Amino acid sequence: MKILAIETSCDETAAAVIEDGRKILSNTIYSQIEIHRLYGGVVPEIASRNHLDKISQIINLTLEESSCSFADIDAIAVTIGPGLVGALLVGINYAKSLAYALNKPIIPVNHMEGHIAASYLSFEDLKPPFLCVVVSGGHTYLAIVRDYTDIEVIGTTLDDAIGEAYDKVARTLGMTYPGGPQVDKAAKIGNPEAIHFKRTYLYEKDDECTNYNFSFSGIKSGVLNYINNSKQKNIEYNIPDIAASFQASVLDVLVNKSLRAAKQYKLDKIVLAGGVAANSRLREMMKNYKNLTFDNGDNFKNLELEIYYPNLSLCTDNAAMIGSQAYYRRKSISDSPLKLNAIPNLQL
Ligand code: KG4
Ligand code: ZN
Repeated sequence: MKILAIETSCDETAAAVIEDGRKILSNTIYSQIEIHRLYGGVVPEIASRNHLDKISQIINLTLEESSCSFADIDAIAVTIGPGLVGALLVGINYAKSLAYALNKPIIPVNHMEGHIAASYLSFEDLKPPFLCVVVSGGHTYLAIVRDYTDIEVIGTTLDDAIGEAYDKVARTLGMTYPGGPQVDKAAKIGNPEAIHFKRTYLYEKDDECTNYNFSFSGIKSGVLNYINNSKQKNIEYNIPDIAASFQASVLDVLVNKSLRAAKQYKLDKIVLAGGVAANSRLREMMKNYKNLTFDNGDNFKNLELEIYYPNLSLCTDNAAMIGSQAYYRRKSISDSPLKLNAIPNLQL
């Protein structure tokens, strides 16, 4: 089954052709990052206009690269949410027009399920069940993926997403949008123990009872206070040290809760998904989980786990992941495709 997938939920205009959920025939992305960088973040109206400008070109390019014609395509997949409403509508309306003109079915896809599916494209043998750590710019979830379409969220953020925390801290440090990759880079030459930022576990020390929710909104104030204090006292501060210490504080909590959840639910695979899954320190911590000790006393020396993270280019937004999940969601073919609408706050 060949699926033409379209993704326009934020600032990437993307299209891909995916065969049987696992094989990438083409994966084409036009990133608007340079345009939004000027404003320090994504401007929704500008994103929609640029999607409109580029979508035909990107779809034609991806078909060409896949060596397929429209006649070879069995279904069209499109992201219906979560995301920016105007941006989503560009992709959805394009999918509707194609479906109508070519008489093809539409499979609506949840963007966050798409992020989870990115690993199916990187690991051909990967199958549920597994614990998925979904960490993007807008969302943070710990989810048990029991089957391709049976996903249970066991924890989420109560405020900011982890990617949002990275972007806000980056801005405080004078870095441009999107800040995550720059914090990652700066942290590599910083000392993660230079400053102790608070770890927000949301449970007491040594508590076996688990709360898998997160809170990342306090950390940006922590970083800001540290910088302001240093300025007031005329003490020079070191940006790589701040970046590394910030990372240590959010990643300790993220990794600790992920490992606790895998242990509690007896899952032997952890899969990382979403833009923050590109983070080098997160990948390193997950790979070396047996050697980590946490300040709540936890260690996971005796836990046997396989860790998976998708190829870097599949972590951030793309249409290949939408085409993969659409294959597993193929029973959800829309009965009335022309009535399909965007769902900006669609949950996992
Ligand atoms: O999944 P994604 O492309 O878009 C959303 O669906 O939100 O994630 C984008 C987020 C941004 O917050 C960006 O700063 C973050 O992923 N990100 C990173 C890294 N690469 C991207 N955060 C930390 N380290 C990275 N290397
Ligand atoms: Zn995303």
